[in-house]
Amino acid sequence: MADPSAPLTIVLTGASAGIGAAAAVELTCRGHSVLAVGRSATKLAAVSARMLTVAPAGLEVPEPETADFSSLGAVRALADTLLQRCPRIDVLANNAGLIVRRREESADGHEITFAVNHLAPFLLTNLLVDRLRSSGGRVVTTSSDAHKRGRIHEDDLQLHRWGPWKAYCQSKLANVLFTAELRRRTGLAATSFHPGLVRTEFGRGSAYHVFSKVMRPLYRSPEQGAETLVWLATDPEGGAPASTYYADCGPGRPTAAAQDPELARRLWDTSATLVGLPAS
Ligand SMILES: NC(=O)c1ccc[n+]([C@@H]2O[C@H](COP(=O)([O-])OP(=O)(O)OC[C@H]3O[C@@H](n4cnc5c(N)ncnc54)[C@H](OP(=O)(O)O)[C@@H]3O)[C@@H](O)[C@H]2O)c1
Repeated sequence: MADPSAPLTIVLTGASAGIGAAAAVELTCRGHSVLAVGRSATKLAAVSARMLTVAPAGLEVPEPETADFSSLGAVRALADTLLQRCPRIDVLANNAGLIVRRREESADGHEITFAVNHLAPFLLTNLLVDRLRSSGGRVVTTSSDAHKRGRIHEDDLQLHRWGPWKAYCQSKLANVLFTAELRRRTGLAATSFHPGLVRTEFGRGSAYHVFSKVMRPLYRSPEQGAETLVWLATDPEGGAPASTYYADCGPGRPTAAAQDPELARRLWDTSATLVGLPAS
């Protein structure tokens, strides 16, 4: 049996800013080996520098990796690199996410919010499943209570009838459904969580950011927003979860739609087809 106090190898996406950067620093401070993934090499270098200042003596801070999740090819290339670099992966934290101002499509022609927030972590996780399994690993995905306002628009998944919030809420519901179905299909310890409302650069340039600027004093710090991620990545609860959805370091309250096994199964099969994996 693995030593519960041994340092973990943690792959953390969206580590260049906000909640992910705070989690990368805290997990490093606790002696874990965090491979930070982000879009911008410059921003990642700044986070790496913070990780180095808190790393316990003797802990090597891995070089970060860049990947733009608006391209499935970039996600595949990232997975290849991670498989080469990491003989074990104890935790995959799918944290990267966005909300955008107007409808855009990814390099592969998918609605961008669905592509970055759902299809990218769906593909990355599937490509790393065997390594996670052989490591006795777990998967933590940053969702949101926004899933409660979401629907999976099965008749218009790419949201040709688009709205920023509609797209975001659909993607965050997809995160919870993915988590449940991942667990059912692979047996991996998979959890999703709501970080709270957090003062980050999330949604910069969108109406959400204007709203969050007004509400900023009421928001949590990135460090507070990272607490549930850090807990699910390291606590025994994250390794044998009682729930698929958490908030404030305890079980959360997913909607009925987020717990619909048939919807989760259909979304998985459709997503597999969209990213070019067998639908099974
Ligand atoms: N802030 C909140 O109140 C809140 C509430 C609920 C849920 N969440 C969720 O928390 C997660 C982290 O958000 P945050 O608040 O920390 O926001 P943030 O400060 O904007 O950080 C988002 C992270 O995702 C990365 N990212 C965005 N688009 C990407 C792409 N195309 N490819 C690769 N990486 C990309 C960003 O990289 P760059 O640095 O290059 O942009 C950044 O590292 C998201 O999944 C979000 O949905 C946030």
